[in-house]
Amino acid sequence: MQYVYIVIIGLHVMAGVFWAGTTVTLARDPEIKAERFIRPQLGASVMVFLTGALLWYFFHGAYFGSMEMTLALGILAAVAAAGVLGAVVRPATRQLAGADEVTERTLRAVMSKGERVAAFLLVLTVLCMATARMF
Ligand code: HEM
Repeated sequence: MQYVYIVIIGLHVMAGVFWAGTTVTLARDPEIKAERFIRPQLGASVMVFLTGALLWYFFHGAYFGSMEMTLALGILAAVAAAGVLGAVVRPATRQLAGADEVTERTLRAVMSKGERVAAFLLVLTVLCMATARMF
């Protein structure tokens, strides 16, 4: 059983690091083509939510103390970040194909803003995940 936990935590942390890392990188540099990352980012977020739900089921269940409150805050921030990427950045990347120069600039500004908001939320998530044990 120990191996199952190790694999799930490993997948959770690796997918989370990829999701948060690419989002922070794209937020820092709008020159990077965000459209190349949006699908892997959203794919990683699905993996994070699935493995996170399993971790909650294995280690926390119905108990809701201060550690769980901290985790829940991080989870809420992650849900909001996924929402911003899915509802703001993804539609903009889809409109890029065939867009003229002015439209492309506007869409890239929208994508960049979305990545910045999502990055802020994911930094909060990572902080909550990393410190939850201490509460
Ligand atoms: C960017 C997103 C995320 C990252 C980088 C991340 C990272 C981490 C890390 C490093 C831990 C280990 C903390 C420790 O053992 O001290 C952890 C624990 C945990 N994460 Fe996440 N996480 C993310 C999102 C989520 C989401 C969305 C959920 C829920 C759906 C979730 C649920 C959990 C749970 C329940 C634990 C506690 C496991 C335990 O008790 O040992 N995480 N996370």
